[in-house]
Amino acid sequence: KPLQAKTVRDYIRTIPDFPHEGIMFRDVTTLFADARGMRLCVDQLLAPFAGDRFDAVAGLEARGFILGGAVAHQLGTGFVPIRKKGKLPGKTFEQDYALEYGTATVEVHVDALQPGARVLLVDDLLATGGTAKAGIALLERLGAEVIGCAFVVDLPELGGRAALEQMGMPIHTLCSFDGA
Ligand code: PRP
Ligand code: MG
Repeated sequence: KPLQAKTVRDYIRTIPDFPHEGIMFRDVTTLFADARGMRLCVDQLLAPFAGDRFDAVAGLEARGFILGGAVAHQLGTGFVPIRKKGKLPGKTFEQDYALEYGTATVEVHVDALQPGARVLLVDDLLATGGTAKAGIALLERLGAEVIGCAFVVDLPELGGRAALEQMGMPIHTLCSFDGA
């Protein structure tokens, strides 16, 4: 495709059989490494929220941090990290979520946001929605209002989008892949 016609989806690389056989890994490093790709994706993540007022952007470790900082800068807000357990130094709230095998835990600082804060949650990819749901639960425990969630990639076959929309959460994704 000519350069100007390249979409966010075109910058994403697919690596078969990573991290194990049968998985088509959607690799966003090729998107983030490209100057035009990175700007395109930050602009597009924010596009549907153009009329909204936000107090903060929250990002999910690890790939959500890359986007979250850029999105916060663009919005003129601060950034709140939702981290894997054991990384945040202050007092935290914890939330477990299901993985393919077993469970994982994410945390947020108890004083990261003011009650009533209007937050945009950002991550690179929406699969089962387990990670995002855990993030939303933590933000709501802080008393924040999650105005919406923005992801670069949707894997609709894994049901995350449907699950989050069923909760009434506005979900924005830039592209999708089947055969996940
Ligand atoms: C990946 C991806 C999302 C999450 C989506 O992160 O970056 O955060 O999985 O999956 P889900 O919708 O089924 O919860 P991963 O846990 O691999 O960690 P990383 O971002 O730290 O690489
Ligand atoms: Mg992740």
